[in-house]
Amino acid sequence: MSTKHLELAQVGIDFPTPKGPFRALENVNLKIEKGEFVSLIGHSGCGKSTVLNIIAGLHQATTGGVILDGSEVNSPGPERAVVFQNHSLLPWLSVYKNVELAVKSTMQGKSKSEMREWILHNLALVHMSHALDKFPNEISGGMKQRVGIARALAMEPKVLLMDEPFGALDALTRAHLQDSLMEIHASLGNTVIMITHDVDEAVLLSDRIVMMNNGPAATVGEILDIALPRPRDRLVLADSKQYNHYRHEVLTFLYDKQKKVETVSSHGKSTLKQSANGVSSEKKDKSNSDAA
Ligand SMILES: Nc1ncnc2c1ncn2[C@@H]1O[C@H](COP(=O)(O)OP(=O)(O)OP(=O)(O)O)[C@@H](O)[C@H]1O
Ligand SMILES: [Mg+2]
Repeated sequence: MSTKHLELAQVGIDFPTPKGPFRALENVNLKIEKGEFVSLIGHSGCGKSTVLNIIAGLHQATTGGVILDGSEVNSPGPERAVVFQNHSLLPWLSVYKNVELAVKSTMQGKSKSEMREWILHNLALVHMSHALDKFPNEISGGMKQRVGIARALAMEPKVLLMDEPFGALDALTRAHLQDSLMEIHASLGNTVIMITHDVDEAVLLSDRIVMMNNGPAATVGEILDIALPRPRDRLVLADSKQYNHYRHEVLTFLYDKQKKVETVSSHGKSTLKQSANGVSSEKKDKSNSDAA
């Protein structure tokens, strides 16, 4: 049997709580090929972030483990860059300096001009060359998110881990960033694992959608292969039978097979709700937009 690029084998995790250990995940198995774009989708609190954090090395699995290119993952590393939902830029550093800080450790031995060129290249990929000297409080939410993506890409990670990266953005900005991410993925060929609550986003971007069962002891429910040709165009896909079939499969999994009663998770966040058009929506902070 060939070993995969990234493999989660029998991953389970217990979190300590005052009432004793809470088993959030159990027997999560997943094999991912190099360059694959995989989305994780599932109801709030099912354990998506926990899976991502285990791959990132931020949490240690209680059972099983994660293997990346033959080595077990036990701690964070630059080959697995994370993009969080709430653009975690350092407010006292400029756009340029935020990216520079991230690449300093991965570019040891390179000259100053090589490093500068690399930082500028990555900021150009996300169309942020015009705002190098701006500070995070001077740019919009979508722009901050783009800098977060540039920062992660500049580390040349084997695996790009994204936890609801566009969740706090308005629909137009989100669409722009989805298109940029598709372009970047096509040109760089990184492995991407992205958590989303947005069914259309999952179908548009993914090679496979991993749908998780509700917790506790959550695991992989179903995996859907998205065999839509690339490059993908949202307008063309809107009328595609195949696209709408995939969309329907995910919606059926979420709202029929894994129907969930509305509760508030222990993080105090609202759970996922179904909107009129079937696309999930969460009540979260809205950042300002840069949809221009
Ligand atoms: N450090 C922790 N201690 C105790 N329980 C935790 C901890 N982290 C997560 N959990 C619990 O594990 C479960 C999975 O949480 P996780 O954050 O992975 O869910 P999620 O699918 O990412 O949810 P959301 O969509 O709301 O972000 C939840 O029941 C959560 O309360
Ligand atoms: Mg989460």
